[in-house]
Amino acid sequence: MKSYVVGNWKMNFSVGESSVYLHKLLQRTHAYRDIEVIVAPSLIALQPLSLQIDRKKIRLAAQTANPHDFGAFTGEVSFTQLRGIADYCIIGHSERRHLFHESDKQIRSSVASALRNQITPILCIGETDTERTFGETYDVLRDQLLGGLSGVSAEDITKVIVAYEPVWAISTTSDARLASPDEIASIIQFIRQTLNEHFGQEVGENIPILYGGSVKPTNAGAYLTVPGVNGLLIGGASLIADQFTEIIEIAKKVKS
Ligand code: 13P
Repeated sequence: MKSYVVGNWKMNFSVGESSVYLHKLLQRTHAYRDIEVIVAPSLIALQPLSLQIDRKKIRLAAQTANPHDFGAFTGEVSFTQLRGIADYCIIGHSERRHLFHESDKQIRSSVASALRNQITPILCIGETDTERTFGETYDVLRDQLLGGLSGVSAEDITKVIVAYEPVWAISTTSDARLASPDEIASIIQFIRQTLNEHFGQEVGENIPILYGGSVKPTNAGAYLTVPGVNGLLIGGASLIADQFTEIIEIAKKVKS
């Protein structure tokens, strides 16, 4: 299975800055057969960057999209409109779930719409600090995972990527708040087992599962060697060319 290194730029960089930054990344990145490098710029930058990108080296992802194809949805952009521009879309990121109140139902529609429009969904799941404290982690993850994927056909499920991002470990500056590789290992095993139970072992074993939450060059190697982790979803460190390209190199080393 390929490894994925995904940079979520969130709401950072102007269109001009995004283009300059992408240029820098393209200069420093090689085309790897076994590593898929993906960046998710702001929606406004996606279209111009799609003309600039070298898809052999880096692919584009949207950070969200509306599941309706067209219509009276002021301010929204659909998966249909993103077709041919983005190859991937992050769906159900914790910031979308918690700041913009996206429900599992909406997220499920987005996964379906992405697949219908030949865009690979990167379905994010993750528990909050409170849910973790109250011992609800596994229930929350199961609900988010199956809530997002129920109804996906046997054929389409092979095109889905899952990302585990514990909300409490996102953008932390304290080492004490980082998720430990051991903790991640048990959770990844649970996610894999849930996928196997619902979609069959052969399919479940081949769904890529990424880890995200304060990934940096200093911890990327440890996270990438957690059994069952097939890549990383990176926020802050993906905005710094030196750090992002170092993480790609680490992924390359771990792979070989
Ligand atoms: P950080 O890497 O900044 O913690 O962000 C993680 C994230 O939310 C990526 O989607």
